[in-house]
Amino acid sequence: MSRMRVAGKPVPHESARGHVTGEALYTDDLVLRFPNVLHAWPVLAPHAHALVKSLDISPALSQSGVVTVLTAADVPGEGDSGSNRHDEPLFPAEVMYHHQPVVWVLGETLEAARLGAERVLVEYEPLPAILTIEDAIAAGSFLSGPFKLADGDVSGIEASPLYFEGELIIGGQEHFYLETHCAIAWRDETGGVAAHSSTQHPAEAQEVISRVLGIPRSRVAVECLRMGGAFGGKEVQSNPWVAIAALGTWKTGRPVRVRLTRALDFALTGKRHPFLACYSAGFDQDGRLQGVRISYYSDGGWSLDLSEPILWRALFHSDNTYKLPNVELTGSICRTHKTSQTAFRGFGGPQGMLVIEEILDQAARRLSLPPEVVRERNFYREGDCTHYGQLVKDADRIETIWQHLKISSEFDRRRKEIERFNEHHVHHKRGLAITPVKFGISFTAQFFNQAGALVLIYRDGSVQVNHGGTEMGQGLHTKIQQIAADGLGVPLEAVRVMPTRTDKVPNTSATAASAGTDLNGAAVADACRQLCVRLNEVAAGLPEGTSFAQVCEAAYRKRVPLFAQGYYRTPDIHFDPKAGRGKPFHYFAYAAAVSEVEIDGFTGEYRLLRTDILEDVGESVSPIVDLGQVEGGFIQGVGWLTLEELVWNAQGHLATAGASTYKLPSWSEIPEVFNVDFLERAADPTVVMGSKAVGEPPLMLAISVREAIRDAVAAFGDGGPLTFASPATPERVFFAVQAARTAKAIATPIKEVMRQ
Ligand code: MTE
Ligand code: HPA
Ligand code: MOS
Repeated sequence: MSRMRVAGKPVPHESARGHVTGEALYTDDLVLRFPNVLHAWPVLAPHAHALVKSLDISPALSQSGVVTVLTAADVPGEGDSGSNRHDEPLFPAEVMYHHQPVVWVLGETLEAARLGAERVLVEYEPLPAILTIEDAIAAGSFLSGPFKLADGDVSGIEASPLYFEGELIIGGQEHFYLETHCAIAWRDETGGVAAHSSTQHPAEAQEVISRVLGIPRSRVAVECLRMGGAFGGKEVQSNPWVAIAALGTWKTGRPVRVRLTRALDFALTGKRHPFLACYSAGFDQDGRLQGVRISYYSDGGWSLDLSEPILWRALFHSDNTYKLPNVELTGSICRTHKTSQTAFRGFGGPQGMLVIEEILDQAARRLSLPPEVVRERNFYREGDCTHYGQLVKDADRIETIWQHLKISSEFDRRRKEIERFNEHHVHHKRGLAITPVKFGISFTAQFFNQAGALVLIYRDGSVQVNHGGTEMGQGLHTKIQQIAADGLGVPLEAVRVMPTRTDKVPNTSATAASAGTDLNGAAVADACRQLCVRLNEVAAGLPEGTSFAQVCEAAYRKRVPLFAQGYYRTPDIHFDPKAGRGKPFHYFAYAAAVSEVEIDGFTGEYRLLRTDILEDVGESVSPIVDLGQVEGGFIQGVGWLTLEELVWNAQGHLATAGASTYKLPSWSEIPEVFNVDFLERAADPTVVMGSKAVGEPPLMLAISVREAIRDAVAAFGDGGPLTFASPATPERVFFAVQAARTAKAIATPIKEVMRQ
């Protein structure tokens, strides 16, 4: 059969037309298929921490249109939707964060449910709330940890030619997916439960429903058509909503819809973890790192969620692209009375990397060396191992990308130009920075690194592909379609990727860790290979030029099965957390970015003038999709590091719970010049189609913007060391400029020693 090449072609996203015309359906659109659906609304606790003393639902039941109120008494199984630790009661006796749902009202209309919820009488006994990392540390309030990861010997770092200590406060981030959380559940005709859920992890939704209802998973089927963005926020945080919908349908026999409004989504769902990092570091006079100690404290919120693997990923990425010769890392997860912080693009990696970039810049400015020189001097070289003992495969790409990008972005020329600009401007300063990225690809829990597929060929030669991954806008289904078309040698249009369903491919992992294509694409390719072997045998007995459809029809008549299951497990990955040694990642994705900013010293406002990115996507399966991922990931990172600020007030109420108070990046924040390139001749033969993961790594390229802002702030003073908490909002930048002008940087390191 002839080989069509569609992988590697710049095809548009498979739903691009639907996205812009509105024809692409999302979970909540499907509610129209359920005419007798009930709507759910929660009774929200007005305290960040309190005991529920008494509950009276009867006034709600007299509200017209209210059908029932779901309480703990309705749960036939286990009333908990928590991932991992099962520490998230659906109907809590102790309220653990402001606005936590206490019970849920089901109504004929949303309005009836809302009015009913207002009538429920709950008596609370307020308790003291822990709302910051500092308070949690002082109170010894931890969800988990401390975890440790160490290499070499840090005992001598205080004696290094340059030694300093400091801390960095890192803010969280709201996912702000356009589609808020939604689930619709109904009873199927066998008495089981089916659900549509906007989830990255339909298999876990199935698990949670079966847990709550006390029925086997075989009686539950979950489907996810597509999501309007997820960004990690729907990896486990979709569980409670689908659980409530399932419980509601179990009790009433009618379909139940749970859809969070934007305000509810903001108030109830977890965010990127805020971090506090306390560090000490030693360098030689040339800016070569001698050793580093870092203690991380993440703000986990009220329950464990994915906080452990997220903290581990921060520890794994504390090196970024740098060889840490002597290193001691510890990490603890604080329990606070806030939403349960969760997965968000980068999954702890961004926080870990931000700290080492902070330390390197601090060292460079203390040594009066350009930060890019200090960065480069500390790069991993071929043959180096990470601080957890993994060989850094293709380490030479770090230097290759760096040098290519410095040339293509005209870094040295612009450095000089900016110096001249800054000499001639008192109240406006420009800054330039280049920062690298190395991001480990694989789930750090080994067992998640598997995927399945079910490929069906019909007698007319048309193809349906089922796989375990979910589509959240990232283009996974587009890549899968291309891989399947290539795998079977048919045109793209012959392949239809089906909605993700737990009854097509069982026991799947979340679509996360950027590994969606690596895992599911390889499983689909495996199924296609099996089918090709069978079809080639049939085709061998047919005349040259027989069409694919004719071969399929002939195969059917010869009783050759036209469907196959595919499977993939990532080879040779393992990690021993006790020893802190192993190979948790199949490979690393590399990239670098150069950003230039201009700051207005009167206001602290800045403009992003230009960004150049060089990204290693291996041999891209889908260049338009990958370009979108790099641009979107970068901008989302810029939002995290420069604009988006979560403010909880003294009562634990999130004060920035809407687009009016929470500043998101928009058109005006896109760099005026934005160049994105892919590293050439970069195929990785150990990954499906030679491609490399692209979903998360570009987010961390936004560190170049924070560093460019720092560079510009420094230009208001003598160029010496300075810092500011993240995000670098105009307000913080303004105060940093003031401090730089008076040559006393705010939050300067606690201690510094310089030996000449
Ligand atoms: N891109 C879009 N448009 N929407 C998303 O929700 N999620 C990101 C990334 N890119 C996301 C996205 C996150 S957090 C991950 S882990 C990956 O996509 C997941 O998909 P992949 O493994 O198929 O890359
Ligand atoms: N990355 C993303 N999501 C995850 C991981 C991970 O390493 N582990 C569990 N969920
Ligand atoms: Mo992405 S944070 O791994 O869903």
